Amino acid sequence: MPLIDPLLLKKLLGPLAGRFDVDALVECDSTNSELMRRAAQGAPSGAVIVADQQSAGRGRRGRSWLSSPDDSLMFSLLWRHTGDPARIGGLSLAVGVALAEALGALGAQGVCLKWPNDVLLRQGQSFAKLAGILIELSSDRRGLQVVIGIGLNLYKPAQALPQASAGLSEVLMPLPDRHALLAAILASLVVVLDDFAVDGFCGLKTRWERCHAWQGRQVDLSGGEGEAVLSGRCAGVDQDGALLLETAQGVQRILAGDLSLRLA
Ligand code: BTN
Repeated sequence: MPLIDPLLLKKLLGPLAGRFDVDALVECDSTNSELMRRAAQGAPSGAVIVADQQSAGRGRRGRSWLSSPDDSLMFSLLWRHTGDPARIGGLSLAVGVALAEALGALGAQGVCLKWPNDVLLRQGQSFAKLAGILIELSSDRRGLQVVIGIGLNLYKPAQALPQASAGLSEVLMPLPDRHALLAAILASLVVVLDDFAVDGFCGLKTRWERCHAWQGRQVDLSGGEGEAVLSGRCAGVDQDGALLLETAQGVQRILAGDLSLRLA
């Protein structure tokens, strides 16, 4: 499979090309780890690393992220947040909106979001994971450095995974060329991040809820060990990106942490 050609990508990004600085690698440990190292050395906002293969791809909650080179698109984007760090809540949900909307605009149907930022594909009554988002923050004298890592399954992963998984090819055939796909996602991300820089998650809340797989559905919230912590009805999210769960004790505000949700 050919590497991403940064020049072709630039062409496809059109007027937004100047916002990105793309490096395509055959292999690295993790595009997030590599970009965090480069961020520490002063890489600019808009730096992107896309890799064909990761030897130590990472997922949320310390999990590893396995993917085979031909079957997925893996990249990370560095975004330097110069605004108030207290307003960073909701960023990971904002990134989910950008990704789900970009895929929808390309014609993929049934792409939706599970709080906080899993990208799922609706399959009848059930849902399967289509993409994962890993956001890592660090700060230095220049401000807050945000590394946004995305792993998108182009084809359904062959290996057995703890969670049902899906590939974009199930809803978008023929698949767009990887350059067109990456350009569409980056363009969507930059627009959403620009909005986020001004208004925080506030202006994106309704768009997130429009994509929310389980809006109004009864769910169980479980802790790190899988034990049920709370049950309730998903009433959406607030302007900080906290999940609002209607329980017998009233509406509870759930902030992202070592928690996972499943349909009751
Ligand atoms: C999740 O657990 O759902 C998040 C998975 C994120 C995987 C992507 S692949 C590109 C980037 N580099 C990594 O090491 N992880 C993210």
